[in-house]
Amino acid sequence: MTTCSAPGKIYLFGEHAVVYGESALACAVELRTHVSAKKSDSVKITSKIGTTGLNFRKHAYVSSAIIKLGVKDVAVKITSDIPIGSGLGSSAAVTVATLSAINDEYSFGFGKEDIARMGHEIELDIQGAASQTDTFVSTMGGVVEIPSRTLMQPPDCGIVIGNTRKGTKSKKTAKLVKQVAALKEEYPEIIDPIIKTIGSFTQKGRILLSEKDYNSLGRLMNVNHGLLDALGVGTTELSALVYAARDAGAFGAKITGAGGGGCMFALTDSPKKTASAIKAAGGEAIITEFTKEGVLKE
Ligand code: MEV
Repeated sequence: MTTCSAPGKIYLFGEHAVVYGESALACAVELRTHVSAKKSDSVKITSKIGTTGLNFRKHAYVSSAIIKLGVKDVAVKITSDIPIGSGLGSSAAVTVATLSAINDEYSFGFGKEDIARMGHEIELDIQGAASQTDTFVSTMGGVVEIPSRTLMQPPDCGIVIGNTRKGTKSKKTAKLVKQVAALKEEYPEIIDPIIKTIGSFTQKGRILLSEKDYNSLGRLMNVNHGLLDALGVGTTELSALVYAARDAGAFGAKITGAGGGGCMFALTDSPKKTASAIKAAGGEAIITEFTKEGVLKE
């Protein structure tokens, strides 16, 4: 039996703009999906929703990974710390961990680039549209600049994720991406510069990250959040958590992912205080860490 784990991720900057070829900075976080794969006499997939064979309704990503690698006789078990469909890359993590566990169990010899590429193909198949961000970050870990795929060291300050518990399921992500596209089409002269500005945070963000200037990084996160709000992907609940975290002294706080619900995160040097503020504002607070580790054999 082989067990692999793959991390979730947050966007420091650039979601939505990345859809239009602008730059984004995403970072892996130490919330992991563990997948074990064992040669067996048939396909068996077990998760907290039950045990199935190949099943594209209940276990779409795992079933697709099994088909992708052409195996017919594997038992797969999944456990995960990543809230599902909340903008933290849960589907990428389960896909990457499944591909890696089967790859090792069957000694197929695929490298990390292959795993990231196959993972992205699977997300595209299932979701219709997906950037390479989630699958690449989950495979490689650390901070990744998209689309250049430059890898950087993660911040060494604290991070608290705030979950509104209103999911951003992949279908909803597609809807939000379309909603932004419609706004852009209607008001190109107003929305195009906003998208460009969101793309421009990455270059400055990389410098601030290398200087460990978390105060300035946080201030720019706040500006990025405001622009995501301007694109119409904010919600009352997300803003409540973002402002609670800032009022509690976080360096900065913003939506991560598609918005419309799902999660925000705060960069902070006092995670407990930030987490209490997020809880008091009605969110689920998850104190975690940035990580340089992508997919791992356990
Ligand atoms: C969704 O997590 C982030 C978006 O930029 C879409 C994508 O990059 O695939 C909205």
